[in-house]
Amino acid sequence: MSRDVHIIDHPLVQHKLTLMRKKDTSTKSFRELVHELSALLAYELTRDMPMQLIEIETPLEKMMSPVIDGKKIVLASILRAGNGFLDGMLQVLPGARVGHIGLYRDPATLKAVEYYFKMPSGMEERDVIVLDPMLATGNSAVAAVDRLKATNPRSIRFVCLVTCPQGIKTFHDAHPDVPIYTPAVDRELNEHGYIVPGLGDAGDRIFGTK
Ligand code: URA
Repeated sequence: MSRDVHIIDHPLVQHKLTLMRKKDTSTKSFRELVHELSALLAYELTRDMPMQLIEIETPLEKMMSPVIDGKKIVLASILRAGNGFLDGMLQVLPGARVGHIGLYRDPATLKAVEYYFKMPSGMEERDVIVLDPMLATGNSAVAAVDRLKATNPRSIRFVCLVTCPQGIKTFHDAHPDVPIYTPAVDRELNEHGYIVPGLGDAGDRIFGTK
């Protein structure tokens, strides 16, 4: 089955991701890099967004010129690491709305359980970009998109920094219609659910909690 995975191989993106992966990159640098990278990822994510022509007036004459309706875009952050993408993406998409999805893993069933879900109104006419830096087991991403689909948005895209074959398979087995945008597909998941070589715990590295 062919999978809708967009590899973002721009040299600037790859360079910054390499710096983020290094274990001696400080929290300050990691945060700055995720901020810069998010803005670059937003270019790729919005490449085929619907546009509309509006009438404007240049100093010389009137013309019809294209715009993206930024207000139609929802950045849906999977807590907590997804929040790391927000500032950089909002710099490029200042009109975007922001939603949050909180999930935890039930230790008995290992299933993702929702503890928070807040999206803007009028989801039927919005294009959602789901934010989660690491698409690892894929379980929380699947649960987040299950929940988002119930709001019936116009489209959904998923973006991460790093994923692995298992995460892609789990995600696309459940949601083959949702494209994944990622700069890197790493080798595998280890026995603790970390992507290897990866970059470690993205939330801890963004928020300095380790
Ligand atoms: N979550 C992370 O932050 N890192 C991984 O490698 C896997 C899941």
